[in-house]
Amino acid sequence: MQFNHFSVMLNECIDALNIKQNGIYVDCTLGGGGHSGEILKHLSNDGRLISIDQDKYAIDYCKEKFKDKQNITFVRDNFKNLDLILEELNVQKVDGILMDLGISSYQIDTDERGFSYMRNGQLDMRMDTSQDLTAKYIVNNYDEQRLSYIFKVYGEEKFHRKIANKIVNTRREKPIDTTFDLVKLIDEVIPRYQNKKGGHSSKKVFQALRIEVNEELDILENSIKNAINRLNIGGRIEIITFHSLEDRIVKNIFNYLALECICPKEFPICKCDKQKEIKVINKKPILPSSLELNQNSRSASAKLRIAEKII
Ligand SMILES: C[S@@+](CC[C@H](N)C(=O)[O-])C[C@H]1O[C@@H](n2cnc3c(N)ncnc32)[C@H](O)[C@@H]1O
Repeated sequence: MQFNHFSVMLNECIDALNIKQNGIYVDCTLGGGGHSGEILKHLSNDGRLISIDQDKYAIDYCKEKFKDKQNITFVRDNFKNLDLILEELNVQKVDGILMDLGISSYQIDTDERGFSYMRNGQLDMRMDTSQDLTAKYIVNNYDEQRLSYIFKVYGEEKFHRKIANKIVNTRREKPIDTTFDLVKLIDEVIPRYQNKKGGHSSKKVFQALRIEVNEELDILENSIKNAINRLNIGGRIEIITFHSLEDRIVKNIFNYLALECICPKEFPICKCDKQKEIKVINKKPILPSSLELNQNSRSASAKLRIAEKII
């Protein structure tokens, strides 16, 4: 299996993780193993890396790639289950956690995974191919209001109502099976002048469907909080996001956990039990260098935020 994936902000992530040779690290999003491989290089035989992915193909590929490495543990699961995963492995606390959110180039570039509006395949979009819900089910079964809602909220698509209406009318005649069926239909709805402006006319709807299929935003807040709870003092969490909806969630959680007090302003003295749990390392997100952007245009929307556990 060929697994082409250019790891985003690799050096920035490794530098900021402050890797201790004997420490325990978690890569929540193994993918093609780019970040995991680099973390492994910094670990001694007493160090440990736990690498998680819900995609069977990522796990299979990396098991082969790292077959000579003793100190990596592969877990095929959703990182929303981090607590259970660590419990099963008898690990209480760890020294660093990485989340490189979204999908890998391998997933986008494989026609039958159905993630890409540039490639024809069944509308699938599952990262975990053992789950039932697919993009095809959503497009052919959700009611018009719900479709419109997810296109608006998860895709920030201006033409959400028109596209939902077109889908519902089209599927009365014939099911919408493939990525290109959906692309054709969206092209008929979005005015031509609009097509020329932003990116591809299907980009936002595809993003919205992917988020809905994989519950990407619903699980994020709790997953980040759980991850931070599992960090040793001085341990760092690093999160790479690829769109503003995800980045906003990460920024808000970090800012909240970094607050010392949440009492209303008019209170003369603090009466809350809030404690500052983390230090935000970079107030503004780190962005890919121009060199990286030249090598990998897919990193264009990436943002890296880092925080350190302090209690
Ligand atoms: C952007 S890629 C990671 C690439 C990786 N850092 C590398 O350098 O090769 C994201 C990976 O995370 C996985 N993933 C995304 N959300 C996940 C979740 N909630 N639980 C487990 N894996 C997830 C995807 O299946 C995908 O393989």
